[in-house]
Amino acid sequence: MTDDQSSARVFPFRRACPFDLPIEYARLREDGEVPRIPLAAGGHAWLVTRYEDVKAALADDRLSNDRTQAGYPSPVPIPPAMRTNGSILGMDAPEHTVYRKMVKAEFTLQRVNSMAPRVQQLIDEHLDRFIAGGGPADLVSGFAKPLTLAVIGELLAIPTEDLDSLHKATQDMFNGARTKEERHAAITFLDTYFENFIAGKFRSPRNDMMSRVISKNPQLTQTEAVHLARLLLNGGHDSTASMISLGLLTLLQHPEQYKALSEDPSLAENVVEELLRYLTVTDLATARVAARELTIGDSTIPVGDGIYPSTASANRDPEMFEDPEAFRPSRPDVRKHVAFGFGRHLCLGADLARLELQHVFATIARRLPDLRLAVPAKDVQVLDGGFVYRLAALPLAW
Ligand code: HEM
Repeated sequence: MTDDQSSARVFPFRRACPFDLPIEYARLREDGEVPRIPLAAGGHAWLVTRYEDVKAALADDRLSNDRTQAGYPSPVPIPPAMRTNGSILGMDAPEHTVYRKMVKAEFTLQRVNSMAPRVQQLIDEHLDRFIAGGGPADLVSGFAKPLTLAVIGELLAIPTEDLDSLHKATQDMFNGARTKEERHAAITFLDTYFENFIAGKFRSPRNDMMSRVISKNPQLTQTEAVHLARLLLNGGHDSTASMISLGLLTLLQHPEQYKALSEDPSLAENVVEELLRYLTVTDLATARVAARELTIGDSTIPVGDGIYPSTASANRDPEMFEDPEAFRPSRPDVRKHVAFGFGRHLCLGADLARLELQHVFATIARRLPDLRLAVPAKDVQVLDGGFVYRLAALPLAW
């Protein structure tokens, strides 16, 4: 099917409950349809839902990440002036290969593992503070957000007192409910902050991530370094914070898994992989635009059209995962998910996110074995349809 008739509803479709994907995904996977669907933010995009098709699309160099193209789809309207390609996320090969190499060394497994003691220390400090504040308390604002900001803030050597305003500006920039002026003001704030921040790194480099990247890559301009730092700050905390709160909600809905984890922290690795598959909080982050005509399934996608290879749908494809709607950390193919994307843009911070999440869930389950929701599960509010699927708040008691 190549027309809007396949789907009366506009995209992004909403999830029926925090854990169930939009019902349209299962039907499209089954029928093998790659429909052209209307977007809530205006325009159209082609939706790819099968696991094998999603992986093939993300590995296909005929699809581009070029955000300056009018057809590049977005869940919220992006005014033309805001469509920029500054960071590696918006680049295609061969440019992407060159720039990704500059920063890859900072995210090797060895380097990430060396961060484990400090990450654990930050988790302990933030959890101490959260517990000392007394319950019921909101995990999103009281732990998940400040912790993940602290980790990436420390890596980038951003002063702690600046993190909150940077976080707020980043949220405003991506928030379609804000006015155009408010979003522009947020971007100007971020640009000015990071221009000064990076200028300081060029003037007097120290032993922090951006200083090392700048010193080792003399061809990197100040503007490019600004875009990179902004991407790392945003990519480095938002999705991980969302995974902490949605992940904990999932575990509390599966008390036998939470209990098992509280008794055996070595289960954390598989628990995290299965949470990544089950929740896929960045379903809308892997949008592409066709740089050349291509065919997926029965659909021929013309140059300039937008495409959503849905990683959330791929992660629930029964052709790939047995009983995909079940949360089952012991499944044998638990690492085969595409929650971090696939291909050349595969998440650069995946191992750091894994490290943070494994330590967070193991620590919370060990220290708070009687943790429970402080409100009925149906009252937990989800924020759907933005770049990152998230909870507004997660009120907990212990
Ligand atoms: C659970 C947490 C995370 C999830 C689910 C996630 C998800 C993703 C996804 C799906 C992509 C691919 C986007 C595309 O194909 O266009 C991506 C790219 C990226 N992520 Fe993450 N991410 C997470 C955490 C992090 C962290 C902690 C960092 C850094 C500290 C990070 C940095 C990046 C960067 C730099 C890219 C761009 C890579 C490139 O374009 O080559 N992410 N992430």
